[in-house]
Amino acid sequence: MGAGHNLSYLTGEFAATAVDTSPEMLQLCKKINPGVELHQDDMRDIRLGRKFDAVLIHDAIVYMLSEDDLMRTFATAAAHLENGGIFIIGPDYYLDNFSGLRVEYCTRSEGALELTYVEYAYDLDPSDTIMEIIFSFFIREQGRLRIEHDRHITGLFRRASWVKLMKKAGFRVEPRIITAGGVSHELLVGTLSKAP
Ligand SMILES: C[S@@+](CC[C@H](N)C(=O)[O-])C[C@H]1O[C@@H](n2cnc3c(N)ncnc32)[C@H](O)[C@@H]1O
Repeated sequence: MGAGHNLSYLTGEFAATAVDTSPEMLQLCKKINPGVELHQDDMRDIRLGRKFDAVLIHDAIVYMLSEDDLMRTFATAAAHLENGGIFIIGPDYYLDNFSGLRVEYCTRSEGALELTYVEYAYDLDPSDTIMEIIFSFFIREQGRLRIEHDRHITGLFRRASWVKLMKKAGFRVEPRIITAGGVSHELLVGTLSKAP
């Protein structure tokens, strides 16, 4: 779930319950999304004992590092849906079309604050299911430049593996392409056909 930015676009129309392992992220989410029920827990294991109309794990799904992680997460989503319930994920990268390195950047400003963001994503070993992403933030404020880095280990799987494991968890899978700011991205949308 993270700081809940994506969630903030949904809370006007939907009642939401959100999960994250990080207490700091939950604090940020609480500020942006007051009134949302929050749980500090792991998406691979959490069992709330309730069913929902939909489960959305957008980019946080990239922190699943093995097929076992993915399978446990998909089973968790299935355990929280009735038959016909919707499960949406947005993997950032597929091994199939990842050449080993991708660099993306953009600059945004608001008032006197300017932020440039560089994402350096690379895969040293295509035979395993992990890759690494270095995030660098160049923050210019009041005539001073501050630079922050963050290093994340994320999962990298073939598209067929995502689809295979979603099906194994009981979902019928349909891809949906979304385009925003001139950039297209695939979501994998599952409809639960075999509630556990
Ligand atoms: C990149 S952030 C998501 C940002 C989000 N898309 C937003 O709009 O704010 C990814 C989040 O996934 C969380 N996360 C990673 N592994 C998790 C797990 N196993 N269970 C629950 N949350 C997890 C991290 O703590 C982090 O806050």
